[in-house]
Amino acid sequence: MINTEITKSFWDNNVESYLFLLEEDFSSKKDFSSGEDFSKVEEYYPNLKETLLKHQFTGKAGQSFNLTATKDKKLIMFIFVGLGKKTNKWDVNLEKVRRAVGVAISIIKKLKLKTAVISTTSSEWVGVDASEILKHTVITAHMASYDFLMFKSKKEEIFEPTLYIYSPEAHDNKLANEGAIIGQSVNLARTWKDLPPNILTPEKLRDHAEEVAKKSNLKFTSFGRDKAEKLGMGGFCAVDEGSEKAGQFIILEYNYKKDAPIIALVGKGVTFDSGGISLKPSNYMSGMKYDMSGAASVIATMNAVGQLKPNVNVVAIAPAVENMPSGRSSRQDDVITFMNGKTAEIISTDAEGRLILADALCYAEKFYKPDMMIDMATLTGACVVALGHYFSALMTVDETLEKKLIKSGKISGDRLWPLPFDDDYKPGNKSNIADISNCGSKEYSAGTITAGLFLSNFVEKTPWAHIDIAGTSDQIPAISYLGNGATGVGVRLFIEFIRNFTL
Ligand code: BES
Ligand code: ZN
Ligand code: ZN
Repeated sequence: MINTEITKSFWDNNVESYLFLLEEDFSSKKDFSSGEDFSKVEEYYPNLKETLLKHQFTGKAGQSFNLTATKDKKLIMFIFVGLGKKTNKWDVNLEKVRRAVGVAISIIKKLKLKTAVISTTSSEWVGVDASEILKHTVITAHMASYDFLMFKSKKEEIFEPTLYIYSPEAHDNKLANEGAIIGQSVNLARTWKDLPPNILTPEKLRDHAEEVAKKSNLKFTSFGRDKAEKLGMGGFCAVDEGSEKAGQFIILEYNYKKDAPIIALVGKGVTFDSGGISLKPSNYMSGMKYDMSGAASVIATMNAVGQLKPNVNVVAIAPAVENMPSGRSSRQDDVITFMNGKTAEIISTDAEGRLILADALCYAEKFYKPDMMIDMATLTGACVVALGHYFSALMTVDETLEKKLIKSGKISGDRLWPLPFDDDYKPGNKSNIADISNCGSKEYSAGTITAGLFLSNFVEKTPWAHIDIAGTSDQIPAISYLGNGATGVGVRLFIEFIRNFTL
């Protein structure tokens, strides 16, 4: 955890450390600082440029270098971090800023520095508004300071540094407050995702959602299998019935105004995916606590929405279940009937996410009549093969929605890449005895697309997008501000999208 505060000057803060983000080859620039005024550092290090270069610090992305000095009899540190080269793409530059901030925060953490000051990178360098840069600096500082140490029995002293942020160009602190709310919400999602599945059960996730509702002034509803059965949710029940842990269908609502547009967010909440009767080999089962990442992200998004109060109505729906083998589990060859009356043959009980999402999409459309829906799910291993860990897969036939989401992804850092969502792939889901099969056929390959198209059977007329986050929800290599476990993917994206939403 970190406290972020806006400051009106860089040098006047009584801090232990001063952070400088320098672009690659800064030494060829006449004025290489953005708002810090290097003459102050030069009072301690008269040949600053030469000192940095002598130590091989050229400003390459990921590089860092520390210098110490004594100010008012106290030891202070100057920490230099490389931004890399400026490109002609604002989104690439903004991500470079985020990663440099991530490196800076990890140094503060490592050196246990309690106070630091940073100056935001110039809008000229990045190519976006100064207030946006300020907001993303705050969000990233929160993300980079995230730790998950709950289960370490040897308790370390809680370390909560304060970061002062100086923005020479942005004078509106509102976006900085917004950034703190967003960053904290991302970390909230990460905590739930990182919790082990014996603790974070469907009912526990419901409790967390209820707490969010209380804190952020939202309407909370939930129900279990009895009501799901009455509603005809054969998909939700087929996955739920195999587990000792009761499933929960979780709903959070932010009601802005009756006539305002309604956005529905749906997230897959499988608190552990063993595969069910189609049991996963054990090396594929590790990490399946993250299979509730979509649900955690839509609930955590509502945590921010309740505080940011956007001008749209938002409903988040999170079907939460555990996928386990038992005498009551559904089987391969079973046929189930969903809320909208469609039937599916179960070819693999491991393709469970689409079963619970099918009913959740039906439910969202029927009871909320949203203007648009987005679902987010760790849905297919094929997605990890296709895109790896840096982009989530986006599937939609709505071009406006596609454009808006991709733009939100570029600004927020939760980047999306579109996959073809063409009818040609649809027969991949055919079944001989039911309307559809829950597994795409081998012949058609493209498992991520066929899974998305399976879901399209459960959206009647609402503009809709499906986002597969199987590769982006956890264990991302080499992004400085993400660390080892959950990434909180989706929270930044959704909030950015909601904040800019107009019909
Ligand atoms: N939760 C998994 C998908 C997954 C795999 C997420 C790896 C993250 C990392 C999903 O429920 C699943 O098991 N999908 C199957 C579908 C198949 C049986 C059609 C898959 O992708 O193998
Ligand atoms: Zn599965
Ligand atoms: Zn799954």
